[in-house]
Amino acid sequence: METTDAFTGLSCVDCGEAFDPETATHRCPDCDGILDPAYDLDRIDLAPEDLADRPFESMWRYAELLPFARDAAVSLGEGATPLVECPALADAMDVGRVLLKDEGANPTGTFKDRGQSLATTAARQHGAEEVALNSAGNAGQAAAAYAARADLDAHVFLPSRAGFTQKAMTEVHGADLTVTDPVDGDSQIGDAGRAYAAAMADHPDWYSTKTFVTPYRHEGKKTMALELLEQLDWEAPDGVVYPTGGGVGLVGMHKAAREVRELGWTDELVPMYAAQAAGCAPVVDASESGADRHEPVPDDEIDTACNGIAIPDPGASPLILDALRESDGGAVATTDREIFDAAIEVARAEGLEVGATCAAAVSGAFALAESGEFGPDDTVVLLNTGAGNKDVDALRAHLGEREVAAEGEVNE
Ligand SMILES: Cc1ncc(COP(=O)(O)O)c(C=O)c1O
Ligand SMILES: [Zn+2]
Repeated sequence: METTDAFTGLSCVDCGEAFDPETATHRCPDCDGILDPAYDLDRIDLAPEDLADRPFESMWRYAELLPFARDAAVSLGEGATPLVECPALADAMDVGRVLLKDEGANPTGTFKDRGQSLATTAARQHGAEEVALNSAGNAGQAAAAYAARADLDAHVFLPSRAGFTQKAMTEVHGADLTVTDPVDGDSQIGDAGRAYAAAMADHPDWYSTKTFVTPYRHEGKKTMALELLEQLDWEAPDGVVYPTGGGVGLVGMHKAAREVRELGWTDELVPMYAAQAAGCAPVVDASESGADRHEPVPDDEIDTACNGIAIPDPGASPLILDALRESDGGAVATTDREIFDAAIEVARAEGLEVGATCAAAVSGAFALAESGEFGPDDTVVLLNTGAGNKDVDALRAHLGEREVAAEGEVNE
């Protein structure tokens, strides 16, 4: 395998056992825990000055802090996304600075590309021919794109509630798409997960690129924090607000913040804030009650139109909650109406396009500022995980509802 110098292997987050990445490909062989890439940071021959000399063209510019060598990468130029100043939002929020990390600039329009780039690289290193996963939508589309790039077959399982764009592009990239049947309304991510698990049982040779089943999705997401810290001259912001579903990006970014602090590139961790929709907020509930893990939300109680964060049973919640506590961040839930209004406010006040799911970070940041968590000197980063045009139907429908509500008020 073409691994990097500092990558020492995979470590189980539950039993602590270390494994050889050649043979341990997914969950812990001993206890089925999540495997996490480990590094000997003393072997990292890289400094911020070296990075300054490299073109800002993809996440692979941080390859020394990733498991696989740049030459091995299955890449579409993912990452290297802009960090855009949002003065109107800063004014409205009454904080020092608001910056939006715009992951909509990725090849398939979301941050999922970073994780799929690394996971598909691992699949190729392990000699896989077919990859498979279930997803809320965007990761499925990204998996289809990276599989096409690597000349692998992809099997993607999505719930019926996934967006039209995500379903369509999965097939446009040539993947085999299964959409699970509606059950009492739309089917949910758990239904897609069960269909995927049944298919995996029938196809032992399929290589999973599913969240926290492969050790490499959260690892790829580390690069979001590396980039934004570099874009801030290695000065940690006062908060990163992240629309949290399975927590892959949040856990990955926190890991990167720990690593660069250990390397001495930054002085502080980055306070991480999980933003969820009130209609599906298991992480916020657990954070507020001080629990170490979440209580699953029953499928028939999921009540949000934000597909990417309609994740009722995030298996890695202990890692998310650890990250929130260790980084001195927090968690916040806002209603769908607040979330969709926030998407429209960003589009109108700043000209930037944020997806419906992603706007939970914006409405969440407003709520945190309102509650005094962020103050007038603080720098707040909003993680826009995906492009607004991934969710046009939901955003346009909300505009329509606002028009109807406004007309109702006029007529009263
Ligand atoms: C646009 C978008 N934002 C956020 C998320 C949640 O991601 P995570 O699993 O990292 O919490 C998703 C997941 O599907 C997504 O598609
Ligand atoms: Zn284990």
